[in-house]
Amino acid sequence: MLKAICSSKELTNNSYYACICDIIDSRQVQQLKNITHHISTTRFQHCVNVSYYSYLVCRAFRLNARSAARAGLLHDLFYYDRKVYNAGKQKGQASHSSNHSMLACANACEVTDITNLERDMIEKHMWPVTRPMPRYKETYIITVIDKYCAVLEFCVPKVQRIVRRKRGNIYSGGIPQ
Ligand SMILES: [Fe+2]
Ligand SMILES: [Fe+2]
Repeated sequence: MLKAICSSKELTNNSYYACICDIIDSRQVQQLKNITHHISTTRFQHCVNVSYYSYLVCRAFRLNARSAARAGLLHDLFYYDRKVYNAGKQKGQASHSSNHSMLACANACEVTDITNLERDMIEKHMWPVTRPMPRYKETYIITVIDKYCAVLEFCVPKVQRIVRRKRGNIYSGGIPQ
């Protein structure tokens, strides 16, 4: 089963999957399943979320949805811990925001050939935190979708926990806290 956050759609049997089926099972992408991201998800799931929603938005605007799906899946292809990086950061060393996007792009090139558009999307997905400006409309879209997914990944598990607790109280006749 492959699903994006807040979607019940199985993703492995539709046009989205055709865009990423040659890279999603690569060792480098699968390795992201072992890394926690945004506290309550994995880096793999975050990349799937960004990939799928970037694909949908780009398709709706008749932009390059295939590249959006691929760049989304590869945009956070790095393996270090942000806190460890920041703790050991020397003066003059790149910020995590710009370092991880450049690293993700270098790692993506080892998985597949990437286009200029996909490179722009991966390297600049942290804009406006990082410079320079995006060159393509698709890049602006991934910058928004990345932040949108981060908010969902942070908030949805918390809301689900609250709803479960309230339901539990209702079913057991307890007083909601
Ligand atoms: Fe990122
Ligand atoms: Fe991200």
